[in-house]
Amino acid sequence: MTTKDDRLEFEAHKREMALALGKDEDAFQHALNTLIVLDKYDYAYLWSWMGVPIIQMPADVMATQEVVWNTKPDVIIETGVARGGSMIFMASLLKVIGKGKVVGVDIDIRAHNRDSIEKHPLSPLITLIEGPSTTTETLAKVRAEIPAGASVMVVLDSDHGRDHVLDELRCYGPLVTQGQYIVVADTVLGRADMSQTPTKRSKIWYPGDEPYAAVNTYLKETDRFETDEALNSKLVLSSSPGGYLKCIGK
Ligand SMILES: C[S@@+](CC[C@H](N)C(=O)[O-])C[C@H]1O[C@@H](n2cnc3c(N)ncnc32)[C@H](O)[C@@H]1O
Repeated sequence: MTTKDDRLEFEAHKREMALALGKDEDAFQHALNTLIVLDKYDYAYLWSWMGVPIIQMPADVMATQEVVWNTKPDVIIETGVARGGSMIFMASLLKVIGKGKVVGVDIDIRAHNRDSIEKHPLSPLITLIEGPSTTTETLAKVRAEIPAGASVMVVLDSDHGRDHVLDELRCYGPLVTQGQYIVVADTVLGRADMSQTPTKRSKIWYPGDEPYAAVNTYLKETDRFETDEALNSKLVLSSSPGGYLKCIGK
């Protein structure tokens, strides 16, 4: 029996549903309420990737996977390594793609976390840089890891204060190459109201002093990036709705 090849139709339907979901403020608020309930149980901390703890919502792991698979960057830079799961996750995708490496920057790479990362089978694809993400010295070390002509993606997941994220966007945005993404984590903090602000964190970031505020300021300063509307629209059970920006400029 022959069946109709519906792949294009299937993708078109996915896109249509995602865009409709993005306009459904009621659905977003329901999901946000769920996120806030789950946050009591440190939900984003409950997962690991190939044995290493990853501090992400599952929806963001899926979204990042879609970005990396579609864009196949040569270099992925992540600020905020923590226990390393996100780096291992992105390295595992690059391993299957067959090229590329992940560069991780963290102000404090603890010995036991370095040990887990360096002993992992994917460690040959990973470079660790210890230091504050926005200093001249750290940025020089990051730039030295980017070969000439490489396509570059960036994930910002370190200090989530507005000023720091804006500083990171200004420092790391220019490193992102056309067609690649900069992902700004924890933008959901800017979608919650004061009473919904998660408090079980090392620091508390209130609406206005968080990554979404930084993204909105940065998007007014540059025309190199645009929000990927279809991708962000489906990010309801996510830490980073509105945080996936595509580089459209040279
Ligand atoms: C949310 S965790 C990163 C989680 C990790 N990306 C993951 O998905 O598993 C934030 C990390 O940012 C680091 N950090 C905080 N401020 C920083 C700064 N100014 N520069 C670089 N790293 C910083 C912290 O040490 C911490 O390890």
